[in-house]
Amino acid sequence: MSSVESTESTESTGSTGAIFIVVSMVVIIVKISVLYYFCGKRIFPSVSPEPQFMTLTMDKFLTDMEREKPIRFTDQQLRIATDNYSNLLGSGGFGAVYKGIFSNGTIVAVKVLLYGSSDKRIEEQFKAEVSTIGRTHHFNLVRLYGFCFERNLRALIYEYMVNGSLDRYLFHQNKTLGFEKLHEIAVGTARGIAYLHEECQQRIIHYDIKPGNILLDRNFNPKVADFGLAKLCNRENTHITMSGGRGTPGYAAPELWMSFPITHKCDVYSFGILLFEIIGRRRNFDVNLPESQEWFPILVWKKVDTGQLEELTIACGIDEKDKEITERMVKVALFCVQYRPESRPIMSVVVKMLEGSLEIPDPVNPFQHLMDGIFTAHPVPTSQSYTNTSTSSGSCVMVTDSSIVCTTPIMRRNEIELASSNG
Ligand SMILES: Nc1ncnc2c1ncn2[C@@H]1O[C@H](COP(=O)(O)OP(=O)(O)OP(=O)(O)O)[C@@H](O)[C@H]1O
Ligand SMILES: [Mg+2]
Repeated sequence: MSSVESTESTESTGSTGAIFIVVSMVVIIVKISVLYYFCGKRIFPSVSPEPQFMTLTMDKFLTDMEREKPIRFTDQQLRIATDNYSNLLGSGGFGAVYKGIFSNGTIVAVKVLLYGSSDKRIEEQFKAEVSTIGRTHHFNLVRLYGFCFERNLRALIYEYMVNGSLDRYLFHQNKTLGFEKLHEIAVGTARGIAYLHEECQQRIIHYDIKPGNILLDRNFNPKVADFGLAKLCNRENTHITMSGGRGTPGYAAPELWMSFPITHKCDVYSFGILLFEIIGRRRNFDVNLPESQEWFPILVWKKVDTGQLEELTIACGIDEKDKEITERMVKVALFCVQYRPESRPIMSVVVKMLEGSLEIPDPVNPFQHLMDGIFTAHPVPTSQSYTNTSTSSGSCVMVTDSSIVCTTPIMRRNEIELASSNG
């Protein structure tokens, strides 16, 4: 081959290569442009998420709600859901409760907690407690969806209970709930507490059973609220009573305000007090009622002791047809408020007694100590016996406090879902 031919061939190869490089670059630029056009926001997210992005993120974790994990919400998400905390549902010893709604229509109750310092140790403790509460599921317990733990906000997010709390129906509004329904509410509430005491891996003592903490769903099914909060919020600091004890005055068991050993039986006592309020559909101590200068539970005891229970049911406006369940509820209430914790039944027994499947022993005077002015410390034994009428022989069954069924697992810390990191 001549040198001229060789030079021409080299030039032609060089120009073909240049064309190829140019075409390739154009193709790459077009591809990048198309990719950016369709997916630009996802590949190169802006520093502050846009509303559409927030909605997608919310939708993702709202489906997570259906699962069992408590979700970590941000301050911003809660501000949007509660419309800047504009709908106050009520407030109590832990803080205020606001109604909120998420983008998928889920309605929630956001409890903004009063809080102190927020160092890392407290945050870990908070998350561990929330995990336990969030995994405690029962038909008669209010569901915890999640929480917020930020420098400026500590909050708990619960399922919303459309009919509010029981106190509304006992003391304030038209007393629209019939006695049968109230009996059902008492049984459901007892079931919820029995689950906390006897079926969770770690027993949960509520410390604050009262009508304000019994919430009602659309069908007036009762759901116990605020369980686990005593431990979570260091109740001693938020619920100081006149005597410096725990719980709410009027509902707290004697051992709570007398610094005696405290067990789950303090909830049994408070449940008994709640039962009296359900029976009377009035506050146990109400200075506005002329006949109630006396504390209602003592009035009930005196009527039972003197065989005048019928007079009491008439005074409470209870129909003749409900006489039998009233009698049962009265006896259970007197049994639950026994001064000595070991004389009170465990909650699963309370359920059976209220349902009528377990015979209720004639109660002894629970208020003797008030009459005598005697207060003594008491040991707590582990078992009690009751006569079971559900068996044909009416045999005696042992019900032990230690026979706890382990069903609620404790959540590992890493099972908490971050609402803001799942887009
Ligand atoms: N999940 C919920 N759904 C609907 N309403 C709620 C919910 N949680 C609380 N509320 C409303 O907010 C009110 C205040 O509740 P909060 O628990 O703060 O106070 P409390 O129950 O009266 O006292 P405590 O602090 O001792 O629990 C309740 O009485 C109830 O009406
Ligand atoms: Mg409450």
